[in-house]
Amino acid sequence: EGRMAEPEEIVAYIDEHFFREKTFAGKKVLVTAGPTYEAIDPVRFIGNHSSGKMGWAIAEEFYMHGAEVTIISGPSSSKTKYKGIQILRVKCADEMFTECEKAFASTDICIMAAAVADYKPATVATQKIKKQDANLELSLVKTKDILKHLGTLKKQPQFLAGFALETNNEKENALKKLQSKNADIIILNSLQDESAGFGKDTNKVTIFDRQGNEFNYPAKSKKLVAKDIVELITQKINDKA
Ligand code: CTP
Repeated sequence: EGRMAEPEEIVAYIDEHFFREKTFAGKKVLVTAGPTYEAIDPVRFIGNHSSGKMGWAIAEEFYMHGAEVTIISGPSSSKTKYKGIQILRVKCADEMFTECEKAFASTDICIMAAAVADYKPATVATQKIKKQDANLELSLVKTKDILKHLGTLKKQPQFLAGFALETNNEKENALKKLQSKNADIIILNSLQDESAGFGKDTNKVTIFDRQGNEFNYPAKSKKLVAKDIVELITQKINDKA
């Protein structure tokens, strides 16, 4: 107090106050982002390289289109400049599952951008595992598939979007996920593309819908990819209505 706020903070405040559009006014949007950390013992975990940037950019875009936005984020340093976005931070897949399940019934549009771990250690050691002479084997059990679960709970006119991160057979795998998870769209990003991937500020996506359409976009900043995603979802929701 008594010190001038950072110029970026002032601009974000003005933006948020005066320039939020009304497209999604009254709509609740839920976005998941970031990795999950599955504990092995009190000091170690199994995780992945997700930075969360894509999910946070989508959350901000929906927010600036007037939606009431909640982001459920795994451990990541990503943050938002907008004060009105509700942030729930979780660590592991189980926690993310619980928070998503709680929030989903009152959600209109849900975007699952988190890189959720598919497996977690079968048991979590209560003390730090000490180094032994022999090798160590970890037993892993499956985590719950959050997107798939929400797909079973989905009721009209809820809109559910998932991501697919693939390194091979991209289209085939993305289409399988669209069906098996009962999503309305699947946003594919390929690790084969050098503009796409973990930690980068750019991404290149292809979006598949349930009507058999495929939308290809060139590589661009994650902020602009978020704009494309929100624009396509706006169209889809308007088509449905
Ligand atoms: N997802 C999820 N819960 C999980 C695993 C994945 O909600 N336990 C969601 C992701 O947020 C993403 C979509 O499912 O929106 C696809 O994630 P991806 O890792 O590409 O696919 P998986 O279903 O995990 O299959 P695989 O790892 O075999 O490709």
